[in-house]
Amino acid sequence: MRISEATIRKITENADIVAIIGEHIKLEKKGNDYKGICPFHNDTNPSLSVSPSKKVFKCFSCGASGNAVGFIQRYKNLSFPQAIKYVGEKMGIPVDIDDNVNQDLQKYLRIMEDAANYYEFYLKNSIEGKEAIQYLNDRHLDEEIVRRFKIGLASDEFDLLYKALTERDNPYLPLNLLEVGLIKAGKENTYYDVFRSRIMFPIDDLNGNIIGFSGRIYKKTKKNEPKYINSNENVIFKKSNILYNYSRAVNVIKQKNHVFIFEGFMDVIAAYRAKIENAIATMGTALTNQQIQAIKKATNNITLCFDGDNPGIEASKRAIEMFHRANFNIKVMLLPEGLDPDEYANRFGTTSLHDFLENKTLSAPDYFYELEKRKLNKNDLYSIETFKQNVFAFLKMFNIASLTEIYLKRVADELDITITSISDDFQKKRQPQFVSPIHTPKERKVKSAATKRRYIANEKCAVYHAYTSKNACLLILNEKTNFTYADADNRNILFKIFDYYKTNDKMNDDFMDCLNESERMILAKILQEINEHNIITLDECLQINLEFRNEKIQEKLKEAFKNNGIDDKGIIDFIESKKITTKIVKSEE
Ligand code: CTP
Ligand code: MN
Repeated sequence: MRISEATIRKITENADIVAIIGEHIKLEKKGNDYKGICPFHNDTNPSLSVSPSKKVFKCFSCGASGNAVGFIQRYKNLSFPQAIKYVGEKMGIPVDIDDNVNQDLQKYLRIMEDAANYYEFYLKNSIEGKEAIQYLNDRHLDEEIVRRFKIGLASDEFDLLYKALTERDNPYLPLNLLEVGLIKAGKENTYYDVFRSRIMFPIDDLNGNIIGFSGRIYKKTKKNEPKYINSNENVIFKKSNILYNYSRAVNVIKQKNHVFIFEGFMDVIAAYRAKIENAIATMGTALTNQQIQAIKKATNNITLCFDGDNPGIEASKRAIEMFHRANFNIKVMLLPEGLDPDEYANRFGTTSLHDFLENKTLSAPDYFYELEKRKLNKNDLYSIETFKQNVFAFLKMFNIASLTEIYLKRVADELDITITSISDDFQKKRQPQFVSPIHTPKERKVKSAATKRRYIANEKCAVYHAYTSKNACLLILNEKTNFTYADADNRNILFKIFDYYKTNDKMNDDFMDCLNESERMILAKILQEINEHNIITLDECLQINLEFRNEKIQEKLKEAFKNNGIDDKGIIDFIESKKITTKIVKSEE
């Protein structure tokens, strides 16, 4: 059983930190606080300070800090639930942790801890390690960083980890190693390591337990290998709930009341090199509500530092919307095109990265505006229209009157038009913004491209409906509806949503794990683009799709007629006279 949030809060907020730490080390009162010898490093002077009013301890020498539960967790080497239970019992609050589940969990966590230690040892003590350390040093990851982030090395050999973890000192069962995704089964009772010849980055859960690994290639020899291999989703490794570096950073985040959020853990490490410790990262996946809630516990102020490439920009737009809905103050870092924070640090130096992160970030609305402005071509009416509509869309998303006014003025200035006309346009209800607003009837090609865009836009609305409602999804994919697709990606996503609802009643964040990277981007974009102002109803969606299907049927018919020597006029007459489309639709219903 999980311990309830309320119990955790009751215990952490009310624990007598002086009594609890005082049981293990000698504390002396100095002013309002207490001082003692820090147990977490080789302390000679009393560097540990305990504040009964703030209910925290901090070591001014090694930086260890936290509350009473954190102290016990670290001092007694316990898991978070065990530490809560320990402190709770001191306070007379019984804490029920299911011991079977807990024992299993402990076993898995011990395995991961041992694996991490093994990888660390192998990095430092093997011949292969020399080349790996060279690679790390080339990337400016020195010994201190390797130690801090517990970086290690998986050997090139087939089953070294497997052997190490099942030998006499570490008699783990192969089954358990399989369960946590460290080995795979080969032929005839043999097993091999999942991670081979890779630099290993342990991934912690929010409490600092190692629950998985990300392994990076560091040699150029092998072709077509993915840059990173991650632990698979398993009993302990849940990608959608991971925030890299969270447990190490959470105290600094609280203290600064601010967090930097990156896409990759190499960027978190780059930030650390630039003396920024309140940094965390997602595992390159779309942000989930679980992660947002975890961040919320530490601070309300974020800076998004996603990569400066297109996927990075799209991901940050989607993240902004989610954080905005959760009432965060959002800043965004817009790096020069194509660079990620780590590359930026390597090119311009860590001082420059520090300066960028601290001083050169944009507010979220400025970020949106800047992105749109970069795409604007004032000599092209289409581009102006797109610019306007996209600015309107984010203003409607933020939905703050004063902000809207400021930006409408800016758009008017930028385009050299009056604020009245731009405000008029802003008030108008529109079709989905990604439908091209203008088409030139003279050019058939342009028109057919616009029509296709309309159908694709319609499909995106259908995806939105399906994603947000199981009923809508079932209706769209009902055989009788005969939904016809203009875009293969949309079709794939719709089917994956449909599959997901087969086993789930509601849409959850873990759905993102069913999608591949590009589908995730596409869905994120759809969810970002569609809002209450441009959405069309499901009925309309199905109606427009019917039109699309009829068009397709007509096209097919025309082709068949042409092949039989019947001309355009004959075809049109035939279709008109027989009302052929309705018939076909009806007969299939
Ligand atoms: N990622 C992954 N698999 C990949 C590529 C990326 O799991 N094939 C995840 C990793 O968690 C990585 C994050 O996505 O931390 C960001 O990816 P990317 O920006 O490509 O990696 P970098 O942080 O730039 O790593 P490096 O500098 O080592 O190339
Ligand atoms: Mn990088």
